Amino acid sequence: METRTIRFIRRGDVVALPNVPADRTLLEVLREDLGACGTKEGCGEGDCGACTVVLGEAGPDGVQYRAINSCIRLAHSVDGLALWTVEDIANADGSLHPAQEAMVACHGSQCGFCTPGFVMSLFGMYRNHVVRGEAITRELAQEALSGNLCRCTGYRPILDAAQTMKHWRADEIDEELLLAQLRTLGRPRGNGESYLLPHSLQELLALRAALPRAQLVAGCTDVGLWVTKMHMRFAQVLDVTRVAELRRIEEHPGHLRIGAAVTLADAYAALVADRPQLKAFANRFAGLPVRNSGTLGGNVANGSPIGDSMPLLIALGATVLLASTRGERELPLEDFYTGYRKNVLAADEVLAWIHVPRPAPGEFLRAYKISKRFDDDISAVCLAVRLQVEDAKVAAIRIGAGGVAATPARARRTESLLLGREWTQATALEAGESLRGEFQPISDMRASAGYRREVLGNLMQRFWLETQGRAGLNLESFLLEEAA
Ligand SMILES: Cc1cc2nc3c(=O)[nH]c(=O)nc-3n(C[C@H](O)[C@H](O)[C@H](O)COP(=O)(O)OP(=O)(O)OC[C@H]3O[C@@H](n4cnc5c(N)ncnc54)[C@H](O)[C@@H]3O)c2cc1C
Ligand code: FES
Ligand code: FES
Repeated sequence: METRTIRFIRRGDVVALPNVPADRTLLEVLREDLGACGTKEGCGEGDCGACTVVLGEAGPDGVQYRAINSCIRLAHSVDGLALWTVEDIANADGSLHPAQEAMVACHGSQCGFCTPGFVMSLFGMYRNHVVRGEAITRELAQEALSGNLCRCTGYRPILDAAQTMKHWRADEIDEELLLAQLRTLGRPRGNGESYLLPHSLQELLALRAALPRAQLVAGCTDVGLWVTKMHMRFAQVLDVTRVAELRRIEEHPGHLRIGAAVTLADAYAALVADRPQLKAFANRFAGLPVRNSGTLGGNVANGSPIGDSMPLLIALGATVLLASTRGERELPLEDFYTGYRKNVLAADEVLAWIHVPRPAPGEFLRAYKISKRFDDDISAVCLAVRLQVEDAKVAAIRIGAGGVAATPARARRTESLLLGREWTQATALEAGESLRGEFQPISDMRASAGYRREVLGNLMQRFWLETQGRAGLNLESFLLEEAA
C-alpha cells in the first residue's frame, strides 16, 4: 500500500521520510532511521518517560509545545508538526539549553538513562511557561514531570532544576520563524494511503464508511501498546486527531461539548475550570506526556473498566454523540458499553463528541481514584459521586464506578436507595453497604475483589464526611462518632 511521505520540522529544517509503514513508532523512526539515539527506550509502554520528545503545533496563541512519549506514538502522527529530541535543543554554538544547564547545576542526573526524558519534559515546561514569564512552582514542576521516572537521582534535584531554568541564558528558538515554517509545511495530504489524516468530520466519516477495517487511532496511548507489547500490525490507520470539529471544546449554557479528539490535558482543563474540585483527580490521570497525547474520546471509546474518565462522566450525566455518514445519535455514556471493551459503535461510526452537563446549583461532586502509586498509575477502584440535597433530602444522585465490573458502571441500585432519603450518616453508611454489594469485582494484580468491595463502601463514607466539610476527619474518629 502507498505510504505518504512524513514531513516535520527538526532543527529548523524540513525532515522528509518516505515509505514509513503506518504502524512504525516515532521512537523506532528516531533511533533506527534517523540515528537519534539520545532518545532512550525504557519500558516501551508510556510508563517511564525515557523516550519523551516535544512536539510543536501552530495554535491560536503561537506554538503549542507538548511533551509526549515517542515509544507509543505512531510516526505518521507527527506529520506537519515540529519535533525536538534531546539532541536538538542546545544552542548553535554548542552551549547547553537552560533545561540542560539547570540539570547539570542541580546534579539532576546519575545513570542518565532517564535524563533525556526529564530534559525534554523540562524543555516543554520552559517553552510553555518560562518563555511566557510564568513562574515554575514546585506543584507545576511535579505535574510536568509526572510522566518521568528516575530510579537513582531522586526527584528533589530535578525539581530544583525545573525551578531554576529561568536563571540561564535564554534559548534561541525563533517562534515567528517556526510558525511561518509550520504554515509552509501545511496540511498533511493524501487519501487512499496507509496512514490517513483527515482534516474535517465529513472526510473522516467518508473514510470510515469506505474503510471500516482501517485501525482507528487518536492519541495512540492505548493502541501504541498493542503495537509495542502485543506486536499487532496495522496495514491501514485512520487517525482522528486532525479533524477540526473533533478538536474543539464548546461552552454551551447547559453543557460542555468536548470533541472526541481533544487531548486529555485540554479536556480535563475544561472540566476543572467548571469544577475546580476535580483538579487533583485530573492530575492523577497517567502522567503529562500521556495526557498530552491521549484524547478524551480515546479513553471513552476504549472503554477500559479501569479507565478514569468514565466513572466521572457517568456521575456527571454525560452523553456521547456518535456520527457516521448516515447521521448522528446521542446516548447516555453508561448505555454506550455492551461488554468488556465492547460498545455500540457500528463499523462506519465514530465517537464524535462528549456532552458534559454544567454544574447544577447546590451540586456536591467528588471523584476518587485508588491506585498503588499517586502519579502515573491505573486505578484499582474509581468512584465518582454527584449529589444534590434539598430540604435535607437527596434530590438527585448519580454514582459512577470503575474497577468493579466488566465495563465502567453506574451504581443504579445505590442511587435508587438514596433518592428521596434524608442525607445523614446512617444513610451514607447504608449506601456504602449497598455499593459493596452492588458489583462483583474481580481479583487481579491491582487488587483483590474483597479489597475493591471494601474500598467502595469506605469511599462513600469519605464522601459523606466531605459533604459535612470534614475531609480531614479519619475513618476511626468517624466510627467513634457514629457509635456515640
Ligand atoms: C502510561 C500510561 C498511563 C495511563 N494511565 C491511565 C489512567 O490513569 N487512567 C486512564 O483512564 N487511562 C490511562 N491510560 C490509558 C490511555 O491513556 C487512555 O485510555 C487514553 O485516553 C486513550 O486515548 P487515546 O486517544 O490515546 O486512544 P487510542 O489509543 O488512540 O485509541 C484507543 C481506542 O479508542 C478507539 N478510538 C479512539 N478515538 C475514537 C473515536 N473518536 N471514535 C471511535 N473510536 C475511537 C481506538 O480505535 C482504540 O480502539 C494510560 C496509558 C498509559 C500508556
Ligand atoms: S520508553 Fe518508557 S515511556 Fe516510552
Ligand atoms: S539518573 Fe538513573 S534513572 Fe534517572
